[in-house]
Amino acid sequence: MDIKRVGVVGCGAMGSGIVQVSAQAGYQVTVRDINDEFLNRGLGMIKSSLQRDVDRSRMTAEDRDAIWGRIKGTTKLEDLADSDLIVEAAIEEIGEKRSIFGTLDRVCPPSTILSTNTSSLTVIEMAAATKRPQQVLGLHFFNPAQVMKLVEIVRTIVTSDEAVEVGRKYEESIGKTPVLAKDQPGFIVNRLLVPYLLDAIRVYQDGLASAQDIDQGMLLGCNHPMGPLALSDLIGLDVLLHVAESLHAELAEPRFAAPPLLKRMVMAGHLGRKTKRGFYAY
Ligand code: 3HC
Repeated sequence: MDIKRVGVVGCGAMGSGIVQVSAQAGYQVTVRDINDEFLNRGLGMIKSSLQRDVDRSRMTAEDRDAIWGRIKGTTKLEDLADSDLIVEAAIEEIGEKRSIFGTLDRVCPPSTILSTNTSSLTVIEMAAATKRPQQVLGLHFFNPAQVMKLVEIVRTIVTSDEAVEVGRKYEESIGKTPVLAKDQPGFIVNRLLVPYLLDAIRVYQDGLASAQDIDQGMLLGCNHPMGPLALSDLIGLDVLLHVAESLHAELAEPRFAAPPLLKRMVMAGHLGRKTKRGFYAY
């Protein structure tokens, strides 16, 4: 199957990145968010990101305009009906996602492949809201989606070989390197990454070291691009808490239990970079 038109549901941090990389690769992209305010904010992020590339001579103004011209915004899911592949990157709430998948299944032709960027929910639960579960898979991007090379292709117990192949081709065409993961909690990366981030928060919470020293330790001691607390701030502490809680609910291992400090920071609205306050001030 030849993918020409890509639909994206959700124009937040991840959705806007997915829209941008898809349009940059030449796809016609329609993105839907729930209202004009969210949509315009997301489209604004894409515009500034493209402009930054022009300002830094990484892109010509003509390329920027051509890419921008391939992006269409909407608040109606129905407007995604002519997409060959849809990537859902909406709120991490299973009821909402099932409702989105149910609607997409109703409005899209039988050939459309439906995918989700979920980081912590079960893909088969979304697939089961459709009459085409074999054409549903996970395409899990990493933050920032414009930059990170990896995408996990998540295969449920019923995803077809054809759908996996379409996902793989699409990811390669937008310059990503896919790895194949089963529809199990945390897939590959979050299963390994989340306990590490939670441990770093426990080290900080227990007063063993300052945030700067913990991060510097992993930055210089292990050559990581950023320390675990700065990375938690980048991911979003609410997102991290949500992923940890889903992993803990399914796997019941203490290493996935959220440290009390993480819960309290989320309650306080200190969600990391997006609220300008997390383990660091931004
Ligand atoms: N959006 C778009 N582009 C960005 C960006 C963002 N948020 N942040 C950085 N970039 C790009 C820009 O092109 C930037 O160049 P520019 O400033 O000249 O425009 C370039 O990356 C380099 O950025 P910086 O100089 O600011 O900083 P770094 O060289 O340190 O790179 C980083 C930033 C790419 C974020 C790097 O620190 C890194 O790789 N960090 C680790 C990120 C990571 O592990 N992500 C995975 C999180 S887990 C996840 O997403 C799973 C989920 O389910 C929880």
